[in-house]
Amino acid sequence: MEQKRVVLAFSGGLDTSVCIPLLREHYGFDEIVTVAVDVGQPEEEVIRATEKGRMLADNHYTIDAKEKYIAECIFPSIKANGSYEGYPMGTALARPLIAEEIVKIAEKEGAFTVAHGCTGKGNDQLRFDFIFRSAGYKIVAPMREMNLTREWEICYAQEHNIPVSVGKENPYSVDENCWSRSIEGGRLEDPAFHPPEEIYAWTVSPQAAPDAVEKIRIEFEQGVPVALNGERLPGIAFIRELNRIAGRNGVGRNDMIEDRILGLKAREIYEHPAATVLLAAHRDLERLVLTRSELAFKHIVDDKWSELAYMGLVHEPLFYALNAFVDTTQERVNGAVDIALYKGGLTVLGRSSDAGLYSGDLVSFDSTTIDQNHAVGFSNYFGLQARLLKNSKKC
Ligand code: ARG
Repeated sequence: MEQKRVVLAFSGGLDTSVCIPLLREHYGFDEIVTVAVDVGQPEEEVIRATEKGRMLADNHYTIDAKEKYIAECIFPSIKANGSYEGYPMGTALARPLIAEEIVKIAEKEGAFTVAHGCTGKGNDQLRFDFIFRSAGYKIVAPMREMNLTREWEICYAQEHNIPVSVGKENPYSVDENCWSRSIEGGRLEDPAFHPPEEIYAWTVSPQAAPDAVEKIRIEFEQGVPVALNGERLPGIAFIRELNRIAGRNGVGRNDMIEDRILGLKAREIYEHPAATVLLAAHRDLERLVLTRSELAFKHIVDDKWSELAYMGLVHEPLFYALNAFVDTTQERVNGAVDIALYKGGLTVLGRSSDAGLYSGDLVSFDSTTIDQNHAVGFSNYFGLQARLLKNSKKC
């Protein structure tokens, strides 16, 4: 007899809540196990998912993966200056980890089928499917397979007494983890529509930010942030505190026309205050400690790393190889960066490192350590071939 147990990746939002009765009524599963993975989304969301899972499913798990997410996804992404089309990725980083946690529970529960609530239009279906297929699971995706709309889902949820917060007063689809908050759907789907202030939760508008500059210091060890304003903080506390500081200064908003993996262009709005600051600080520190050759090549590596991370192809062998290269470069990325936050903007004020390649003694206008006459020898050969060609054209 075919097994009728399914493990569902569960956020407690509209899509995944509607999945539960659909998996029973439409697909005929008789045992539904929900799994909520805590990747640093607001605590109320984790509580909501836990309560709903317990109420609606046959068995529920809430997995705390915050520190794992930071150590295995966010820190590597800082080291690789991870960004896609100019914004720091968040959802993309968390999806593979969430999928791996679902697989662990499916193994424990002895289930052969896993389910997710992703639509057939976005990136998340591909990121989840990649991990699930790699682990050999059968996948059920009701939203995608039944071609459902949000409007239909809201009615269906009401008919099944499923509490949903989506409605006229909250028409957006939001995805959050501690690195990034994304808002899409509703009226935002018109790229010309000006985003209303109420969609934002982590940042104030630049106009509402204080009129005074707030200065902060970030310290890095091996490419990873370790201290904020002189205080050593563990990953989650660090990121949450920096989200608050940068957010209250209006730093870290992004309104994107984004190219999804499928090729669809989408309008997506993001808030990522800590990520904006940490990526800017990290890039700046790299400029002090890495060689010109390393910087130029790493730029290409970072781009490729980001493309694979955006697609969620974290088991692609190239991804491991790129990570190995990045890790080697980060051994020297130690030091401090001072930053000014002011009304939505960020300026690096200064940076320092014991591993810096900057030599004031050599470069200073005031020093005589370098005999400037030596540059004449260099200059004699500088651009030699172009000069030869130019001169020969003259005759
Ligand atoms: N566009 C982003 C990505 O693909 C975020 C998608 C978030 N999903 C959402 N329901 N808001 O990584």
